[in-house]
Parts: sequence; structure tokens; C-alpha cells
Amino acid sequence: MKDLKELLTDELAEIYDAEKQLTKALPRLAEAADSPEIQRALQKHADQTWEHVQRLEQVFDVFEGKVRSKRSEAMAGLIREAMEWMEADAEPPVRDAALILAAQKTEHYEMAAYGGLRTWADLLGKDEAVMLLEQTADEEKETDEFLNEIASRINVAAAERGDEYEIPLDIYLKSRRSAPAKKGRSKHPVASARRRLKTA
Ligand SMILES: [Fe+2]
Repeated sequence: MKDLKELLTDELAEIYDAEKQLTKALPRLAEAADSPEIQRALQKHADQTWEHVQRLEQVFDVFEGKVRSKRSEAMAGLIREAMEWMEADAEPPVRDAALILAAQKTEHYEMAAYGGLRTWADLLGKDEAVMLLEQTADEEKETDEFLNEIASRINVAAAERGDEYEIPLDIYLKSRRSAPAKKGRSKHPVASARRRLKTA
């Protein structure tokens, strides 16, 4: 029967493979993006991902001394989905919106994995591993937040594609900042901004 340490090293082997898959996929996603902002964000995270791989090798040192890799089917699936979007026949902002979401899905997978690993390493009293895992988890979170910020702009451009007129971005952002949180069914932000624009 597996103990917690074996469970942890199995999961380490899987996230190690997941990170390695990402070192190849992220530069391709960056290249496929139309927005230079997304290109830069994804390329920066691709560079960081190499550091994540090396940090995991240090975590392996703490536990069993040798590096092990186990195929992450979950990451392979997320990347396959992203690649489908890369090849999709879509307007550039629409494809960019999809690429950001695809990248964020991989971030959330990693955040969950690192969160669990960190907790297990802590329970096993391996402080050095906790520190290394936390460092990577923080970088994944920062990337996710940064992608969220870019998405708030790209998604509006994507929503407006094909419509007869566009909502100026400053009106949309102002309406989001000033709108108080309401109970019950939420209003579609683009539709609400469009209504405000019509009555202005
Ligand atoms: Fe990572």
C-alpha cells in the first residue's frame, strides 16, 4: 500500500512531465497569439517554466534523490485543446481569448497540483521542499492573475467581433468599476455596456 511519501513522489513525477510538456507548448501558443501583450506574457511564462522544471529536480533531491517522470494525460489533453484553438478558423481577438483561457486552464491545473504537493511536503516535515513548491506556486498564481488582466481587455474585443458597432473600452471598464454588486441573476457586462451606450 502506498504511503504519503510515495503518493507525493508520484504526483511530483506527473507535474514534472506536465511542466516539460509546457516548455514546448507555451512558445507555440505565444507564437500563435495575435496580441503582442499575450505573446510576451506566454513567452515569459515559458522561460519561467524551465525554472519550474529545475526546481522540481531539487524537490526530487529532497525525497528520493533521482528524478522520475510520469506522463501527465491531463496536461496532454489541455495542450491538445489549446492546439486545436491555434488552428481554428477564428478572428484574431477570438482566437486570442481562447488561447488565454487555454493557458489559464493549465495554470489552474498546476496551482492545484502545487498546492497539494506543498501541503503533503509540509506534513512530511520537508521544509526545503515546501519552500521550493511555494515559490513555483506563487509564480503560477502571478501568471494567472496577469492573464486575467489581459483577458479583461481581449474578451471585450472578442465579444464585439462581427457586431455592427464597438463599445469603446474606456466605457466598458468604467461601467465595470462603477457597477455595484447586485443580488440575483447577473447581467451580461457587454450587453449592459451596450445598453448604456444606446441611451447615452
Ligand atoms: Fe509551471
